[in-house]
Amino acid sequence: MKVSVDLDKCAGHARCFAASPELFDLDDDGYALNAEIDIPVGAEATALEAVAACPERAIESH
Ligand code: F3S
Repeated sequence: MKVSVDLDKCAGHARCFAASPELFDLDDDGYALNAEIDIPVGAEATALEAVAACPERAIESH
C-alpha cells in the first residue's frame, strides 16, 4: 500500500503527522514533505486514519 500527498493541496494542518508520526514527515512550517509514501505491512490502518484526518483531502491511498 502507498499513500500520495498532493503537496499543492497541503495547507500545513499537520493532522497526518498527528495520526501517524512514523509515516509522515513535515517541514518546519508543518507542511507535508513527501508526495509518495510506502506504507509498511501492519501500518495500513494508521495510514488510513491519516488520509481521513486531512481536512484538505490532500492524501489518497492506493
Ligand atoms: Fe498537509 Fe493534510 Fe497533512 S493539509 S500537513 S497533508 S493533514
